[in-house]
Amino acid sequence: MEIASVWRGTSRASRFDALATTNLKVDVAIVGGGITGCTLALQLVEQGKSVCLLEAHEIGYGSTGGSTGNLYGTVSGGLAAIQNKWGEDVLRGVVQARTTAVNDIERRANVLGVDFGWRRCPQYLYPLSADARETISKEHEASLLAGLPARMEDELPVQWAQGPALVIENQAQIHPLRYVRALALQAQRQGCLVHERSAVIEVDHGKRQVCTANGTVTADHIVLATHSPIGFHSTQAGMVVHREYGIAVCLGKGSCPPGIFWGRGDKSLSVRSLEVDGNQYVLIIGEDQKMGQHDAKACLGELEAKARETFDIDQVAYRWSAQNFQSPDKLPYIGQDISGNYIATGFGTDGLVYGTLAGSLIADEILGRTNSASHLFRASRVAPIKAAKGIAEEVGTMVKSLVKDYLTERQEVEVSKLQPGTGALVEIDGTSVAAYRDADGAIHAVSSVCTHLGCKVHWNSVETSWDCPCHGSRFAIDGSVLEGPAIKALDRKYAVEP
Ligand SMILES: Cc1cc2nc3c(=O)[nH]c(=O)nc-3n(C[C@H](O)[C@H](O)[C@H](O)COP(=O)(O)OP(=O)(O)OC[C@H]3O[C@@H](n4cnc5c(N)ncnc54)[C@H](O)[C@@H]3O)c2cc1C
Ligand code: FES
Repeated sequence: MEIASVWRGTSRASRFDALATTNLKVDVAIVGGGITGCTLALQLVEQGKSVCLLEAHEIGYGSTGGSTGNLYGTVSGGLAAIQNKWGEDVLRGVVQARTTAVNDIERRANVLGVDFGWRRCPQYLYPLSADARETISKEHEASLLAGLPARMEDELPVQWAQGPALVIENQAQIHPLRYVRALALQAQRQGCLVHERSAVIEVDHGKRQVCTANGTVTADHIVLATHSPIGFHSTQAGMVVHREYGIAVCLGKGSCPPGIFWGRGDKSLSVRSLEVDGNQYVLIIGEDQKMGQHDAKACLGELEAKARETFDIDQVAYRWSAQNFQSPDKLPYIGQDISGNYIATGFGTDGLVYGTLAGSLIADEILGRTNSASHLFRASRVAPIKAAKGIAEEVGTMVKSLVKDYLTERQEVEVSKLQPGTGALVEIDGTSVAAYRDADGAIHAVSSVCTHLGCKVHWNSVETSWDCPCHGSRFAIDGSVLEGPAIKALDRKYAVEP
C-alpha cells in the first residue's frame, strides 16, 4: 500500500541543494523546513537578516505536508478548554493571534501569486452522537466570547452530517505543501540559504553551532523549528504525541462544498473537499492515535470503512498519516527557551496557524520588536528540570512511566515466524532486535532501543517504519531517522540469517 499525502501527490518535487559548505556564519540558523521554519525564514530575510534554513528531508516533509490544510481561529481541542484553564483574556488573546495569522497567510497568498488553493470558507462543528451536543453548545458560547463570527444552525449544507451545528464564518483552506514550498523559494530569492537533505545531527549551544554530516553553521540565533525540539528538551516530558490517519477519495463536485467539517462524539472526524489541477477530492481524517501504541493498518482500515459508510467511494486515491504534539496545558510553547535557543512546539492539530504565528513571534523576538501575543505562548513557562537530575533522565523517566504498561506487555516473536513485508521485535542471542523481513525474504535488523532516550520502538505496518511511543521519533528499516526528536540512527549491528 503506497503511503503519500494528497498534497505530496499533487506537488512538484522540491529541489534545494544539500549543505556542502563547512563553517558557514549567519545571523540565524533555522532547523526544520515546515510551515514554522519557512514562515520565519521569509520574515527574517525580508528584514535584512542573513539566514540558513536546514531541512533533513525536503521542504514540507513533516506534519505540514501531512496536514488537512484548514486554517481557523478556534482550536481542535475546544476553546472552552482554554477558557477553563487560562480564563477569558487568554482565550481572546489566543483567538485574536490565530485570526491575525490566518490573515497573514491570505496576505502572503496574494503577494506570492502561486496557486496554493487559498479559499475562505465556513467551519462547521457537528455532533456525531447525542451527547456531543452539549460540548458544541459550550463551544458556541466560548467562540462568541472569543470574538469569532459564530452561530448555531439546525441544518448543514451536506446530506451526510446533521445539526445542530456550530458555524463559524470566514475561516480558510490552503494546499499546505505548495504554500510552504512557495515560502521557501521566495525566502531563497531574497537571499536565504535553503538546504534540503541536511539533517542537523548536533546542536552545540555554547558555540552556537548546528552541524550536519557535511557542514557546520554558526549563528547568533538558533531556531529549532523541528516540530518537537531535536535532542533532549524539557518540553518533551509532558507532551502527548499522536499519529493521525487520512485518506483522499475522488468524488464528484457537490458531494462536499467548501468548508471545514468537524464531527465530534466518541470519536472525531475531519472532512473537507479539495479541487486541485481540475480534480475533485474529499479528504477524511480520523481520530488521534497514541504514537507507537496502535495498529496502523487497523486504524487506516477503520477510517476507510467509516468513509465508505458516509460516501459512495469508488477508489481511495491517497492514504497517509502524520504526527501531532499536544502540550499538557493546551497552549503551544513558542519563543526562547532556557538554553537561549528558540523553539515552537505543542501545536496539537492546529499548527498550520500556530506555526505561522510562531514564525511571526520568533521573528519579532529576534528583531527586538514587541509582540502583544508573545506572553501567551512563552516557551520558558515549562518547569525547568532540577539540576541534580539530567534532562535526559528526567524526561525519559516521566514518559516511560506514562507508557509503562504498553512497554512491558509486548511479546517478542521468533524471527523464523516473521512473514515477508512485516516487522516485529525478535530476540536474538538474548537481545531484543527490531527485525523486518522484506518481500525477497531478507531480514533487516536494527537495535530496538530508540536513540533518543532508550524506549523500545514499535512496528508501524502502514509506513514500514519503527516508531517510538515515548516522544514520537521514527526510524526507517535501515535504522535512519525519519522524524525526531532523535538525531541518531538505530544501530545496525545485527546480521541475521533468514
Ligand atoms: C493529520 C494531521 C492534520 C492536521 N491538519 C491541520 C490543519 O488542518 N490545520 C492546522 O492548522 N494544523 C493541522 N495539523 C497540525 C500541523 O500540521 C502541524 O502542527 C504543523 O504542520 C507543524 O509545523 P512545523 O513546521 O512546526 O513542523 P513540521 O511541518 O513537522 O516541520 C518540521 C520539519 O523539521 C524537519 N526536521 C526534523 N528534524 C530535523 C533535523 N534534525 N534536521 C533538519 N530538519 C529536521 C522535518 O523533516 C520537518 O520537515 C495537522 C496535523 C496532523 C497530524
Ligand atoms: S525515547 Fe524519546 S523518542 Fe524514543
